[in-house]
Amino acid sequence: MEVTIGLSDLSDTERLARHLAQALDPGDIILLSGNLGTGKTAFTKALAQALGVPARRITSPSFGLLHHYPEAEIPLVHVDLYRMGHDADPGAIGLDEYLDNLHIVVIEWANYLMSGLKWTKQALTLHLDWIDQDRRQATLRTQEENWMQRIKGLMPVIHKNLTGNRKHDKRSGP
Ligand SMILES: Nc1ncnc2c1ncn2[C@@H]1O[C@H](COP(=O)(O)OP(=O)(O)OP(=O)(O)O)[C@@H](O)[C@H]1O
Ligand SMILES: [Mg+2]
Repeated sequence: MEVTIGLSDLSDTERLARHLAQALDPGDIILLSGNLGTGKTAFTKALAQALGVPARRITSPSFGLLHHYPEAEIPLVHVDLYRMGHDADPGAIGLDEYLDNLHIVVIEWANYLMSGLKWTKQALTLHLDWIDQDRRQATLRTQEENWMQRIKGLMPVIHKNLTGNRKHDKRSGP
């Protein structure tokens, strides 16, 4: 399954994160990709806030590589593989202990993950493309039935509430 979502500005990206946060369960894995500055961290910050993490707590893990927010409604782990580069093994930074059915794991630069990691199959992937200064395009992909159902359930509210998608909403009329 693949769906694309237009994001007309930062607040659209934050809305997408908040809507997705409502549908998350412990054990979920979100793999983020997209070039520098496309909004992977901005998305994750909004997601963490929606899960009850105070904004001041949330920073980019580029230097720490892995941040753990046990105080979130569902405990959250935020990983950034940028500095590990291609064929990154997140086991080396202690990710394995969080790949359980208790945490939500969000990974930036997930395209750097080494191949052959079985747990990536159960993930939702979210790729961000740069359109211009403010606009991005999100592409959601998954092979998991459970994710597909949730994404289908979220699409009406995403179309209704994200300005980047309203023009595609057949119900909005002329
Ligand atoms: N629609 C948008 N969605 C997300 N960010 C946007 C959008 N429009 C503008 N921005 C700006 O783009 C920047 C995105 O930065 P952010 O650190 O989230 O990107 P990133 O993908 O995590 O980059 P990096 O690969 O360096 O980690 C922010 O300054 C944000 O304000
Ligand atoms: Mg980032």
